[in-house]
Amino acid sequence: MLIQLKTVDSTNKYALDNIDKLSDRDVILAETQTAGRGRLARDWLSPSGENIYCSIVLKNQTNNPLLTILAALAVAQTLRLYVSTRIKWPNDVLVGSKKICGVFAQSNSKGTVIGIGVNINMSVKNLSRIDKPATSLLAETGQKHDKTEVLQQITDRFFLLCDQAQREGFAHLHEIWQNELQLINKKVRVQTVGKEICGTVIQIEQDGALLIETAQGKEKVLAGDVYVV
Ligand code: BTN
Repeated sequence: MLIQLKTVDSTNKYALDNIDKLSDRDVILAETQTAGRGRLARDWLSPSGENIYCSIVLKNQTNNPLLTILAALAVAQTLRLYVSTRIKWPNDVLVGSKKICGVFAQSNSKGTVIGIGVNINMSVKNLSRIDKPATSLLAETGQKHDKTEVLQQITDRFFLLCDQAQREGFAHLHEIWQNELQLINKKVRVQTVGKEICGTVIQIEQDGALLIETAQGKEKVLAGDVYVV
């Protein structure tokens, strides 16, 4: 069921706080968030009415990194109906070098929520308030889009991918995701909390981690900002 809220601090927080009353695969969509959060404790700018701010409820699910990977795949594939997208490890969706979507999963003992922010009708003025290069469907196509329709396409595709992963295992989807990232054999610099890792990506593991060959040996990186150098 789609639950639409006007104002909320964060759809992720709302979904986790109310998880007992919610059903599996419910989707919380807010017009605006007063304390939207992203990965690495970043704020997520949430101007009213412009974008998708949503959280998908997955009851009795542990916070498996594969779920955020499937969400990024679902968004990247859906937005391709309108613009050319790519995935930046681990789960940002970009158009060119500008971010159009971020995914942030959180969990508690009752389940996991997959938070998805997609810039749909965000004005150029509001985009310029974001501290990193960002874009929206409006900025890319010059046309306004129906947020709820795009969300429906994203969630339909996400649930299809989840069902496929459950039926067939993750290996095939992992390969699709790995190809989307275009990082194998690339020289990268990864900024993690308090540490920078430089080297060549040799593998992307089944848990989503980057395996990097550095001057000091192999390093596994689970979170951070990756830059191809
Ligand atoms: C990131 O790129 O760091 C992830 C951003 C995720 C933002 C979405 S908006 C809906 C949901 N509620 C939140 O507070 N965050 C996510």
